[in-house]
Amino acid sequence: MTNSYESSKLLGEYLLFHYGKDHELMPWKDGPVNGLRFPDRTVTELMDRSAPNQTGKALDLGCAVGASSFVLANFFDRVTGLDFSESFIEAANEIKRQGFLEYKYLEEGDMFGQGTVRCPEHSDKVSFVVGDACDLPNEWRGFDLVHAANLICRLPDPHVLFSRLPDLVKVGGQLLLATPFTWLEEFTPKDKWVGNGNSAQALGEALSPHFKLEKSVDLPFVIREHRRKFQFSVSLGTRWRRVKE
Ligand SMILES: C[S@@+](CC[C@H](N)C(=O)[O-])C[C@H]1O[C@@H](n2cnc3c(N)ncnc32)[C@H](O)[C@@H]1O
Repeated sequence: MTNSYESSKLLGEYLLFHYGKDHELMPWKDGPVNGLRFPDRTVTELMDRSAPNQTGKALDLGCAVGASSFVLANFFDRVTGLDFSESFIEAANEIKRQGFLEYKYLEEGDMFGQGTVRCPEHSDKVSFVVGDACDLPNEWRGFDLVHAANLICRLPDPHVLFSRLPDLVKVGGQLLLATPFTWLEEFTPKDKWVGNGNSAQALGEALSPHFKLEKSVDLPFVIREHRRKFQFSVSLGTRWRRVKE
């Protein structure tokens, strides 16, 4: 199967989605501006910032081109961003290496606009790696926080990741999930969907008894395809606390 997350079209879309200025991502004043800055909000709106252990290590699964990983570096000493897509991870590493990245995003037809990403602060705390969220190294365990935004409905079997989460998040640590539950057979066979019309409830059943739900909010997001075409979606954002069973 071809990995759609390796195409140059998607690379431009995701660099714009993660790092574009508000007016570049949504040039229409009547557009859904509540969908802007999603990679920032999946961290800042979900994380418990009052917790005393706001240091240590965080893991960003399905980090794409890395914006949420950089946001996590404002709060944690070490952050690992992992994604299946080599071109996304290469772009994230290039931002770190050069301090900036220039990219093209589609305006119309085959005309492109030019965007520039400036490397965020604390990038030295972040490592980006290519990997599979369903086949993580055994020694990866005990993270203070695990973040996975818009990932679970892109996995061939989300339950494989769910079964790894109790080890991955240390007791007392946080799990931040965001998902629009866009189940598609091209990514996830139907018998592996987490619910079908009742996905929020099915997610809770899958995560208990290791995790307790602490927060649940709707997180709109907008992905720009070109100047006149956008995807507007609403993720369910949840924060879970790893509890002792
Ligand atoms: C819908 S995008 C979401 C990206 C980012 N978290 C965000 O919210 O913008 C899904 C991401 O998951 C990655 N992905 C898909 N399957 C994966 C897997 N098995 N392991 C790690 N990453 C995966 C894709 O390459 C893509 O970057």
